[in-house]
Amino acid sequence: MGRADRLEDLTRAAELLLAGRLVAFPTETVYGLGADATSGAAVAAIFAAKQRPAFNPLISHLADTGLVGEFALWNDAARALAQAFWPGALTLVLPRRENCAIARIASAGLDSVALRVPSHPAARALLAAAGRPIAAPSANRSGRISPTTAAHVAGELGKDVALILDGGPCAIGLESTIVGFHQKQPVLLRPGGISIEQLRAVVGAVEVRAGTPAAPSAPGQLSSHYAPDKPLRLNARQGAPGEVFLGFGPVSAGEHNLSPGGDLIEAAAKLFTMLRRLDRGPGEAIAVAPIPEHGLGRAINDRLRRAAAPRF
Ligand code: TXA
Ligand code: MG
Repeated sequence: MGRADRLEDLTRAAELLLAGRLVAFPTETVYGLGADATSGAAVAAIFAAKQRPAFNPLISHLADTGLVGEFALWNDAARALAQAFWPGALTLVLPRRENCAIARIASAGLDSVALRVPSHPAARALLAAAGRPIAAPSANRSGRISPTTAAHVAGELGKDVALILDGGPCAIGLESTIVGFHQKQPVLLRPGGISIEQLRAVVGAVEVRAGTPAAPSAPGQLSSHYAPDKPLRLNARQGAPGEVFLGFGPVSAGEHNLSPGGDLIEAAAKLFTMLRRLDRGPGEAIAVAPIPEHGLGRAINDRLRRAAAPRF
Protein backbone atom coordinates (compact mmCIF):
# COMPACT_ATOMS: atom_id res chain seq x y z
CA MET A 1 0.00 0.00 0.00
CA GLY A 2 1.29 3.45 -0.88
CA ARG A 3 0.02 6.91 -0.09
CA ALA A 4 -1.60 8.84 -2.92
CA ASP A 5 -0.37 12.14 -1.46
CA ARG A 6 3.31 11.12 -1.25
CA LEU A 7 5.56 12.02 -4.14
CA GLU A 8 7.82 8.93 -3.69
CA ASP A 9 4.81 6.62 -3.83
CA LEU A 10 3.41 8.35 -6.92
CA THR A 11 6.80 8.14 -8.61
CA ARG A 12 7.09 4.45 -7.76
CA ALA A 13 3.56 3.87 -9.06
CA ALA A 14 4.43 5.54 -12.38
CA GLU A 15 7.61 3.41 -12.67
CA LEU A 16 5.63 0.24 -12.05
CA LEU A 17 3.08 1.23 -14.69
CA LEU A 18 5.82 1.90 -17.23
CA ALA A 19 7.30 -1.53 -16.38
CA GLY A 20 3.99 -3.13 -17.37
CA ARG A 21 2.71 -3.77 -13.83
CA LEU A 22 -0.77 -3.14 -12.38
CA VAL A 23 -1.33 -0.22 -9.99
CA ALA A 24 -4.63 0.58 -8.25
CA PHE A 25 -5.21 4.29 -7.76
CA PRO A 26 -7.95 6.61 -6.49
CA THR A 27 -10.11 8.71 -8.77
CA GLU A 28 -12.98 11.01 -7.82
CA THR A 29 -15.46 8.30 -8.97
CA VAL A 30 -14.12 4.90 -7.84
CA TYR A 31 -10.68 3.24 -7.52
CA GLY A 32 -9.19 2.18 -10.86
CA LEU A 33 -7.05 -0.86 -11.69
CA GLY A 34 -4.44 0.81 -13.90
CA ALA A 35 -2.05 -0.41 -16.58
CA ASP A 36 -0.09 1.22 -19.39
CA ALA A 37 -2.79 1.54 -22.07
CA THR A 38 -0.19 1.41 -24.86
CA SER A 39 1.02 -2.06 -23.82
CA GLY A 40 -1.15 -4.95 -24.96
CA ALA A 41 0.47 -7.25 -22.39
CA ALA A 42 -0.11 -4.83 -19.52
CA VAL A 43 -3.75 -4.34 -20.54
CA ALA A 44 -4.20 -8.11 -20.83
CA ALA A 45 -3.08 -8.39 -17.19
CA ILE A 46 -6.04 -6.19 -16.19
CA PHE A 47 -8.48 -8.59 -17.87
CA ALA A 48 -6.80 -11.54 -16.13
CA ALA A 49 -6.79 -9.95 -12.65
CA LYS A 50 -10.44 -8.87 -12.91
CA GLN A 51 -11.53 -12.09 -14.63
CA ARG A 52 -13.18 -9.71 -17.05
CA PRO A 53 -14.69 -10.99 -20.31
CA ALA A 54 -12.43 -9.97 -23.22
CA PHE A 55 -15.36 -8.42 -25.11
CA ASN A 56 -15.79 -5.68 -22.45
CA PRO A 57 -13.56 -2.70 -23.39
CA LEU A 58 -11.71 -0.42 -20.95
CA ILE A 59 -11.56 3.31 -20.31
CA SER A 60 -8.19 4.98 -20.93
CA HIS A 61 -7.35 7.90 -18.66
CA LEU A 62 -5.49 10.96 -19.92
CA ALA A 63 -3.63 13.69 -18.05
CA ASP A 64 -5.10 16.43 -20.17
CA THR A 65 -7.88 17.18 -22.68
CA GLY A 66 -5.26 18.31 -25.20
CA LEU A 67 -4.09 14.69 -25.61
CA VAL A 68 -7.42 13.38 -26.98
CA GLY A 69 -6.52 14.20 -30.59
CA GLU A 70 -3.55 11.78 -30.47
CA PHE A 71 -5.87 8.86 -29.93
CA ALA A 72 -9.37 9.71 -31.15
CA LEU A 73 -11.45 11.86 -33.47
CA TRP A 74 -13.32 14.74 -31.88
CA ASN A 75 -16.77 16.04 -32.79
CA ASP A 76 -18.43 19.30 -31.68
CA ALA A 77 -20.69 17.81 -29.01
CA ALA A 78 -17.79 15.84 -27.54
CA ARG A 79 -15.66 18.99 -27.37
CA ALA A 80 -18.44 20.89 -25.62
CA LEU A 81 -18.89 18.10 -23.05
CA ALA A 82 -15.15 17.84 -22.43
CA GLN A 83 -14.90 21.58 -21.96
CA ALA A 84 -17.78 21.57 -19.48
CA PHE A 85 -16.96 18.46 -17.43
CA TRP A 86 -13.25 17.64 -17.74
CA PRO A 87 -11.38 17.02 -15.61
CA GLY A 88 -14.19 14.98 -14.07
CA ALA A 89 -16.62 12.08 -13.97
CA LEU A 90 -17.31 11.88 -17.71
CA THR A 91 -16.07 9.31 -20.24
CA LEU A 92 -16.32 9.97 -23.97
CA VAL A 93 -16.42 7.09 -26.48
CA LEU A 94 -14.92 8.37 -29.73
CA PRO A 95 -13.70 6.82 -33.00
CA ARG A 96 -10.11 5.55 -32.75
CA ARG A 97 -7.64 7.56 -34.73
CA GLU A 98 -5.47 5.83 -37.26
CA ASN A 99 -2.22 4.74 -35.53
CA CYS A 100 -3.86 5.21 -32.13
CA ALA A 101 -1.23 4.08 -29.58
CA ILE A 102 -3.83 2.66 -27.18
CA ALA A 103 -3.62 -1.13 -27.39
CA ARG A 104 -6.36 -2.75 -29.46
CA ILE A 105 -7.23 -5.08 -26.61
CA ALA A 106 -8.34 -2.05 -24.54
CA SER A 107 -10.98 -1.40 -27.22
CA ALA A 108 -11.98 -5.09 -27.26
CA GLY A 109 -11.96 -5.11 -31.05
CA LEU A 110 -14.16 -2.01 -31.45
CA ASP A 111 -13.21 0.94 -33.67
CA SER A 112 -13.74 3.30 -30.73
CA VAL A 113 -11.85 4.30 -27.58
CA ALA A 114 -13.28 5.36 -24.24
CA LEU A 115 -11.36 8.35 -22.80
CA ARG A 116 -11.55 10.19 -19.49
CA VAL A 117 -9.56 13.00 -17.89
CA PRO A 118 -10.08 12.46 -14.14
CA SER A 119 -9.98 15.29 -11.61
CA HIS A 120 -8.53 13.50 -8.57
CA PRO A 121 -5.16 15.14 -7.85
CA ALA A 122 -3.38 11.79 -7.30
CA ALA A 123 -4.78 10.38 -10.54
CA ARG A 124 -3.66 13.50 -12.39
CA ALA A 125 -0.19 13.39 -10.84
CA LEU A 126 0.15 9.71 -11.72
CA LEU A 127 -0.94 10.30 -15.33
CA ALA A 128 1.49 13.18 -15.67
CA ALA A 129 4.36 11.15 -14.18
CA ALA A 130 3.65 8.12 -16.39
CA GLY A 131 3.33 10.27 -19.51
CA ARG A 132 1.10 7.63 -21.12
CA PRO A 133 -2.61 6.91 -21.21
CA ILE A 134 -3.55 4.56 -18.37
CA ALA A 135 -6.25 1.97 -18.97
CA ALA A 136 -8.25 1.51 -15.77
CA PRO A 137 -11.52 -0.24 -15.11
CA SER A 138 -12.94 -0.17 -11.60
CA ALA A 139 -10.61 -2.15 -9.31
CA ASN A 140 -12.99 -5.00 -8.45
CA ARG A 141 -13.49 -8.49 -9.82
CA SER A 142 -15.78 -8.48 -12.84
CA GLY A 143 -19.45 -8.24 -11.87
CA ARG A 144 -18.80 -7.22 -8.26
CA ILE A 145 -19.29 -3.94 -6.38
CA SER A 146 -16.88 -1.15 -7.39
CA PRO A 147 -14.32 -0.09 -4.74
CA THR A 148 -14.53 3.35 -3.14
CA THR A 149 -11.70 2.84 -0.62
CA ALA A 150 -8.19 1.35 -0.83
CA ALA A 151 -9.26 -1.33 1.68
CA HIS A 152 -11.96 -2.52 -0.76
CA VAL A 153 -9.28 -2.95 -3.42
CA ALA A 154 -6.86 -4.70 -1.08
CA GLY A 155 -9.55 -7.17 0.00
CA GLU A 156 -10.44 -8.19 -3.53
CA LEU A 157 -7.36 -7.67 -5.72
CA GLY A 158 -4.53 -7.17 -3.23
CA LYS A 159 -2.58 -10.18 -4.50
CA ASP A 160 -2.86 -9.16 -8.14
CA VAL A 161 -1.55 -5.59 -8.03
CA ALA A 162 2.01 -4.33 -7.63
CA LEU A 163 0.86 -1.31 -5.61
CA ILE A 164 -2.33 0.25 -4.25
CA LEU A 165 -2.27 4.02 -3.80
CA ASP A 166 -4.48 4.97 -0.85
CA GLY A 167 -6.21 8.30 -1.38
CA GLY A 168 -9.03 7.81 1.13
CA PRO A 169 -12.70 7.41 0.18
CA CYS A 170 -13.77 8.52 -3.32
CA ALA A 171 -15.73 11.79 -3.30
CA ILE A 172 -18.39 10.81 -5.87
CA GLY A 173 -18.54 7.07 -5.22
CA LEU A 174 -20.20 6.11 -8.53
CA GLU A 175 -18.47 5.47 -11.86
CA SER A 176 -18.22 8.10 -14.59
CA THR A 177 -21.06 8.89 -16.97
CA ILE A 178 -20.29 7.35 -20.38
CA VAL A 179 -21.37 9.20 -23.52
CA GLY A 180 -21.00 7.76 -27.02
CA PHE A 181 -21.98 9.38 -30.29
CA HIS A 182 -24.28 8.27 -33.10
CA GLN A 183 -23.72 10.37 -36.21
CA LYS A 184 -21.99 12.81 -33.86
CA GLN A 185 -25.07 13.14 -31.62
CA PRO A 186 -24.55 12.26 -27.94
CA VAL A 187 -25.95 8.98 -26.63
CA LEU A 188 -25.91 8.08 -22.92
CA LEU A 189 -24.21 4.67 -22.56
CA ARG A 190 -24.00 4.58 -18.75
CA PRO A 191 -25.45 7.03 -16.21
CA GLY A 192 -22.86 8.10 -13.64
CA GLY A 193 -21.30 10.92 -11.69
CA ILE A 194 -22.41 13.63 -14.15
CA SER A 195 -26.22 13.65 -14.42
CA ILE A 196 -28.13 13.60 -17.71
CA GLU A 197 -29.65 16.95 -16.70
CA GLN A 198 -26.11 18.38 -16.55
CA LEU A 199 -25.25 16.91 -19.96
CA ARG A 200 -28.43 18.30 -21.53
CA ALA A 201 -27.71 21.76 -20.14
CA VAL A 202 -24.54 21.77 -22.26
CA VAL A 203 -25.45 19.94 -25.49
CA GLY A 204 -29.26 19.97 -25.56
CA ALA A 205 -30.56 16.57 -26.60
CA VAL A 206 -28.88 13.44 -25.23
CA GLU A 207 -30.36 10.21 -26.47
CA VAL A 208 -31.03 7.42 -23.99
CA ARG A 209 -31.60 4.32 -26.07
CA ALA A 210 -34.42 2.05 -24.97
CA GLY A 211 -33.09 -1.39 -24.23
CA THR A 212 -29.64 -0.24 -23.11
CA PRO A 213 -28.64 -0.68 -19.48
CA ALA A 214 -29.21 3.05 -19.09
CA ALA A 215 -32.88 2.67 -20.08
CA PRO A 216 -33.98 -0.91 -19.57
CA SER A 217 -37.27 -1.81 -21.22
CA ALA A 218 -37.33 -5.17 -19.46
CA PRO A 219 -35.48 -6.38 -16.36
CA GLY A 220 -34.04 -9.26 -18.39
CA GLN A 221 -31.97 -6.79 -20.37
CA LEU A 222 -29.99 -5.91 -17.29
CA SER A 223 -26.93 -8.02 -17.02
CA SER A 224 -26.01 -8.71 -13.42
CA HIS A 225 -23.28 -6.34 -12.27
CA TYR A 226 -22.23 -4.36 -9.21
CA ALA A 227 -23.58 -7.34 -7.31
CA PRO A 228 -23.32 -8.17 -3.62
CA ASP A 229 -23.45 -11.85 -2.59
CA LYS A 230 -26.89 -11.43 -1.02
CA PRO A 231 -30.03 -11.03 -3.12
CA LEU A 232 -31.24 -7.45 -3.39
CA ARG A 233 -34.88 -6.27 -3.36
CA LEU A 234 -35.65 -2.79 -4.74
CA ASN A 235 -38.28 -0.16 -3.89
CA ALA A 236 -38.85 -1.64 -0.45
CA ARG A 237 -40.78 0.30 2.21
CA GLN A 238 -39.21 -1.77 4.96
CA GLY A 239 -37.29 -4.99 5.50
CA ALA A 240 -39.17 -8.33 5.50
CA PRO A 241 -38.09 -11.05 7.99
CA GLY A 242 -34.51 -12.09 7.19
CA GLU A 243 -33.82 -8.91 5.23
CA VAL A 244 -31.60 -6.03 6.25
CA PHE A 245 -33.11 -2.69 5.20
CA LEU A 246 -31.19 0.13 3.52
CA GLY A 247 -33.22 3.32 3.74
CA PHE A 248 -33.14 6.66 1.96
CA GLY A 249 -34.47 9.96 3.26
CA PRO A 250 -36.31 10.96 6.44
CA VAL A 251 -39.28 8.59 5.92
CA SER A 252 -37.04 5.51 6.20
CA ALA A 253 -36.74 4.11 9.71
CA GLY A 254 -33.85 1.90 10.79
CA GLU A 255 -30.13 2.07 11.39
CA HIS A 256 -28.90 1.97 7.77
CA ASN A 257 -29.70 4.97 5.58
CA LEU A 258 -28.00 6.19 2.37
CA SER A 259 -28.89 9.76 3.29
CA PRO A 260 -31.26 10.56 6.17
CA GLY A 261 -31.66 14.05 4.71
CA GLY A 262 -32.57 12.70 1.25
CA ASP A 263 -29.44 14.05 -0.47
CA LEU A 264 -28.63 12.09 -3.67
CA ILE A 265 -24.98 13.21 -3.71
CA GLU A 266 -24.46 11.82 -0.21
CA ALA A 267 -26.33 8.64 -1.16
CA ALA A 268 -24.13 8.09 -4.23
CA ALA A 269 -20.97 8.52 -2.17
CA LYS A 270 -22.16 5.97 0.41
CA LEU A 271 -23.87 3.42 -1.88
CA PHE A 272 -21.07 0.92 -2.59
CA THR A 273 -19.60 1.07 0.92
CA MET A 274 -23.04 0.45 2.45
CA LEU A 275 -23.78 -2.45 0.08
CA ARG A 276 -20.43 -4.05 0.97
CA ARG A 277 -21.07 -3.58 4.69
CA LEU A 278 -24.61 -5.01 4.58
CA ASP A 279 -23.39 -7.90 2.43
CA ARG A 280 -21.01 -8.93 5.23
CA GLY A 281 -23.39 -8.29 8.16
CA PRO A 282 -26.44 -10.18 9.41
CA GLY A 283 -29.48 -10.97 7.24
CA GLU A 284 -29.96 -13.21 4.20
CA ALA A 285 -31.04 -10.48 1.80
CA ILE A 286 -30.89 -6.70 1.37
CA ALA A 287 -33.99 -4.55 0.79
CA VAL A 288 -33.44 -1.00 -0.51
CA ALA A 289 -35.82 1.96 -0.24
CA PRO A 290 -36.99 3.74 -3.43
CA ILE A 291 -34.53 6.32 -4.80
CA PRO A 292 -35.87 9.28 -6.83
CA GLU A 293 -35.18 8.91 -10.57
CA HIS A 294 -33.49 12.26 -11.20
CA GLY A 295 -29.98 13.69 -10.98
CA LEU A 296 -27.55 11.18 -9.45
CA GLY A 297 -30.61 9.07 -8.53
CA ARG A 298 -30.66 7.68 -12.08
CA ALA A 299 -27.12 6.38 -11.74
CA ILE A 300 -27.85 5.00 -8.26
CA ASN A 301 -30.96 3.21 -9.59
CA ASP A 302 -28.99 1.88 -12.58
CA ARG A 303 -26.45 0.27 -10.22
CA LEU A 304 -29.17 -1.04 -7.88
CA ARG A 305 -31.18 -2.57 -10.74
CA ARG A 306 -28.11 -4.38 -12.00
CA ALA A 307 -27.18 -5.49 -8.51
CA ALA A 308 -30.70 -6.96 -8.27
CA ALA A 309 -30.69 -8.51 -11.76
CA PRO A 310 -30.84 -12.30 -12.15
CA ARG A 311 -27.38 -13.89 -11.97
CA PHE A 312 -26.13 -16.52 -14.35
O1 TXA B 1 -15.45 6.12 -13.18
C1 TXA B 1 -15.07 5.29 -13.98
O2 TXA B 1 -15.43 5.28 -15.16
C2 TXA B 1 -14.06 4.22 -13.46
C3 TXA B 1 -12.78 4.95 -13.09
C4 TXA B 1 -11.70 4.00 -12.67
O3 TXA B 1 -12.37 5.77 -14.15
N1 TXA B 1 -13.85 3.22 -14.46
C5 TXA B 1 -14.81 2.31 -14.80
O4 TXA B 1 -14.38 1.37 -15.70
O5 TXA B 1 -15.91 2.31 -14.33
P1 TXA B 1 -15.19 0.01 -16.00
O6 TXA B 1 -14.30 -0.83 -16.84
O7 TXA B 1 -15.63 -0.59 -14.74
O8 TXA B 1 -16.35 0.48 -16.89
C6 TXA B 1 -16.05 0.94 -18.19
C7 TXA B 1 -17.26 0.87 -19.06
C8 TXA B 1 -17.67 -0.53 -19.40
O9 TXA B 1 -19.05 -0.66 -19.19
C9 TXA B 1 -17.33 -0.65 -20.87
O10 TXA B 1 -18.20 -1.51 -21.54
C10 TXA B 1 -17.45 0.78 -21.34
O11 TXA B 1 -16.94 1.52 -20.28
N2 TXA B 1 -16.61 1.04 -22.53
C11 TXA B 1 -15.27 1.11 -22.60
N3 TXA B 1 -14.86 1.30 -23.86
C12 TXA B 1 -15.96 1.37 -24.61
C13 TXA B 1 -16.19 1.54 -26.01
N4 TXA B 1 -15.20 1.68 -26.88
N5 TXA B 1 -17.46 1.56 -26.43
C14 TXA B 1 -18.48 1.41 -25.55
N6 TXA B 1 -18.34 1.24 -24.22
C15 TXA B 1 -17.09 1.21 -23.76
MG1 MG C 1 -16.61 -1.67 -13.36
